[in-house]
Amino acid sequence: MPTLPASTATTDLSYTLADWRSGYRSQPKEFAYWIDAVEGVIPPELSGTLFRNGPGLLDIHEYPVRHPFDGDGMISSIAFSQGRAYYRNRFVQTAGYVAEQQAQKPLYRGVFGTQKPGGLWANAFDLRLKNIANTHVIYWGQKLLALWEAAEPHRLDPTTLETLGLDNLDGLLQPGDAFAAHPRIDPGDGGVPPRLVTFSLKAGMSSTITLLEFDAEGRLLHRDGQESASKGYRTTVPGFAFLHDFAITPNYAIFFQNPVSFNPLGFILGSKGAAECIHFNPKQPTKVLLIPRQGQGAVITVEAPPCFVFHHANAFEEDGQVVIDSIAYRKFPSLDEGMGYEMVDFSQLPEGQLCRFTVDVATRKLTAKTLVERCCEFPTLHRDRVGRPYRYLYIGAAHQPTGNAPLQALLKRDLLTGEEQMWSEAPRGFMGEPIFVPRPGATVEDDGWVLCLTYNAARQCSDVIIVNGQNISAGPIARLKLHHHVPYGLHGSFTETYFGP
Ligand code: CO
Repeated sequence: MPTLPASTATTDLSYTLADWRSGYRSQPKEFAYWIDAVEGVIPPELSGTLFRNGPGLLDIHEYPVRHPFDGDGMISSIAFSQGRAYYRNRFVQTAGYVAEQQAQKPLYRGVFGTQKPGGLWANAFDLRLKNIANTHVIYWGQKLLALWEAAEPHRLDPTTLETLGLDNLDGLLQPGDAFAAHPRIDPGDGGVPPRLVTFSLKAGMSSTITLLEFDAEGRLLHRDGQESASKGYRTTVPGFAFLHDFAITPNYAIFFQNPVSFNPLGFILGSKGAAECIHFNPKQPTKVLLIPRQGQGAVITVEAPPCFVFHHANAFEEDGQVVIDSIAYRKFPSLDEGMGYEMVDFSQLPEGQLCRFTVDVATRKLTAKTLVERCCEFPTLHRDRVGRPYRYLYIGAAHQPTGNAPLQALLKRDLLTGEEQMWSEAPRGFMGEPIFVPRPGATVEDDGWVLCLTYNAARQCSDVIIVNGQNISAGPIARLKLHHHVPYGLHGSFTETYFGP
């Protein structure tokens, strides 16, 4: 690790940088055990498996990654049954991970700026990507898939987390094809079964989005439910598009084309990662693309104020309007050139805020308003409300009401009344992405639990917390103390199927 400056923590911060950094230590070990240190009570009706993905290694044999997003994917599973929980973690055995662990040094450049040892000459013109499988993990069509948006998914055994290999989705994907890391599950209704909706992106001077919908068995579908022989619906839009996530309604797939451009020169010449070649253009609008999911009708493009969006919370249609709730940043939250992530000054970064964008489909007019000003990320909601009007949103949030800061709190927002509830793990706890799990038999939208993998800097270990979805302010009803830490992760999902021993 490089020498770091002393923590800049002062009394007005809810955390110290040293504590925050300590959650980004590599975790090279793999574990499997019943969690025996539990404060509170795990609800006996909570049954199923929480899967989490994120970078497990922040260095490759002492060569630090430049950015955590370059870290090799490590999957955690927490399987719940009859009031007990079983923890397991394993690295995704990607070709790059296996080769680098054997070589004991980086063999690939990272998209977010990690370079191979040896300077410019060792890196220039090496444009190979290492599929690090570190962004999301989903269980769909009896397959557990670790996702990374620039290449194919890896398939894992859902019980042992053993890597089974790359999965081309029955020939749908060619080697190296992009497959988004943010699928949405349309819950279906009126007898229509749930389906997985996702996309594949080819970005360049123009960008092509291919919409893909799969049934519960993992077969590619048309909108009308017939099995498809095609390769999905394609839409090409002018300009470069950086599309990490999208939102769905019954009729539309919705993308925000952020006002960014891509100048790959630094990447080609070996001085920058590809993602470091993205430039935000503050004078250009963000384009909101409404793509008909049934593959018929024109794409509707509407301009929004300049902003940058990684994640959408939800979208729905109501009275001729399409409403999209998203986490918007004033600009692309990038680090200064040459700066390692561990040196980050959060106060210099724009905060993510929950914004509501409303598009009038007939007039093509868009209005935008901020719903949550507090810095927040990783929104989640009841799975049956995806793409539908909804009332409750759960989201990771900063402890402080203003400015960018690490996520330390869990926020619940009632979108009907504007009421908010919050639980904070500050000063020494840090929050990961929350996942809402409905209570079996529940009839009310917020009757369920919020599960979250948190990091406790005092113990230097991670906790799994279970919070009552109706009473966030009361804090966890159960805290499961892991024996070790899990580096801050990205995304995960819950399935009702129990994959414990
Ligand atoms: Co994401």
